[in-house]
Amino acid sequence: MYNSKIIGLGHYVPENVVTNDDLSKVMDTNDEWIQERTGIKERRHVVKGDGDTTTSMGVKAAKVAIERAGIDKDDIDFIVFATLSPDYYFPGPGVLVQRDLGIKTVGALDVRNQCSGFIYGISVADQYIKSGMYKNILVIGSEVHSHGLDMTTRGRAVSVIFGDGAGAAILSREEDTSKGILSTHLHSEGQHAEELSLLAPGMGNRWVSDIIADNDPNDESYLPHMNGQFVFKNAVVRFSEVIVEGLKANKLEATDIDLLVPHQANLRISQFIQKKFGLKDDQVFNNIMNYGNTTAASIPIALTEAWEQGRVKEGDTVVLAAFGSGFTWGSAIIKW
Ligand code: UT7
Repeated sequence: MYNSKIIGLGHYVPENVVTNDDLSKVMDTNDEWIQERTGIKERRHVVKGDGDTTTSMGVKAAKVAIERAGIDKDDIDFIVFATLSPDYYFPGPGVLVQRDLGIKTVGALDVRNQCSGFIYGISVADQYIKSGMYKNILVIGSEVHSHGLDMTTRGRAVSVIFGDGAGAAILSREEDTSKGILSTHLHSEGQHAEELSLLAPGMGNRWVSDIIADNDPNDESYLPHMNGQFVFKNAVVRFSEVIVEGLKANKLEATDIDLLVPHQANLRISQFIQKKFGLKDDQVFNNIMNYGNTTAASIPIALTEAWEQGRVKEGDTVVLAAFGSGFTWGSAIIKW
């Protein structure tokens, strides 16, 4: 058995900055409400026609991660791509990355676990590496939310939160099993699937032809829906549980955490977790202020920035944790 280790990280966000004041020009919202409830100051939105897509941003982030890992694209044995906003209904973006990076015909897996997608992705990659099947795996989280948001007052409770961007990691075989990803912990509770969802178009629900035929201006089925307070309440409980589960599995205490990188759902959720575990400001990494909630991309973007700022050092205990649509949640305990 081996461990897997993150040997390269990269991120990419579109250039177009959308501030809270920008949003207040197109919907009934304001900077004070958004900052007070979410901590978000600005986010990035792709500009239609500029060429940024979920796949192309993932490819850009991946190129940086590959270069920093000091490997060649031909060393990659497998691709895992987590997103809820794929370029196409099918095929998923994993194969598009294989094509666009010119990687040989390795397997490409698409992960549909929304905000927990990156943790699910590294968990899968970790198992392949642990078993000895693969040596180097590219894991990407990338999202274009902005194309699918309701940018009117009707959609404000959701639309002000989400942003676009991508992050990527190279996981590689580590012979020293006291280093790298020590464990991952995954959960789901489908009972609450519709509480944070986008229902149409879907083969089991309403297809594109139904939406066009109805031509109903009040149709919200193809817009993201979030029962915000219910999601918030579940998030703080599940985040806490899955961090405790990960710490216990490795006989660690909260005081052993050098850096917690939570999924950037809401700054208030991160602050709640920080307080609950008695962590100092420098033990928790947040960048939701600058990017909003980028779902599957949020952890790899945050982890990349934390690494770039020297906040992650060799020997550190790094904890990743996420909660989101599904509901799904998970954690990863890493010895850097
Ligand atoms: O990443 C996946 C997981 N997602 C999460 O973890 C998100 C969890 N939920 C949340 O972060 C919060 O529930 C939100 C930030 C989404 C919303 O905050 P809230 O404190 O739960 O607000 P609310 O939805 O209860 O709305 C409170 C008021 C309402 O007005 P009334 O009915 O009190 O008059 C809303 O209409 O705020 C109003 N409101 C807004 N006002 C200005 C909702 N959105 C906005 C807005 N600007 N953007």
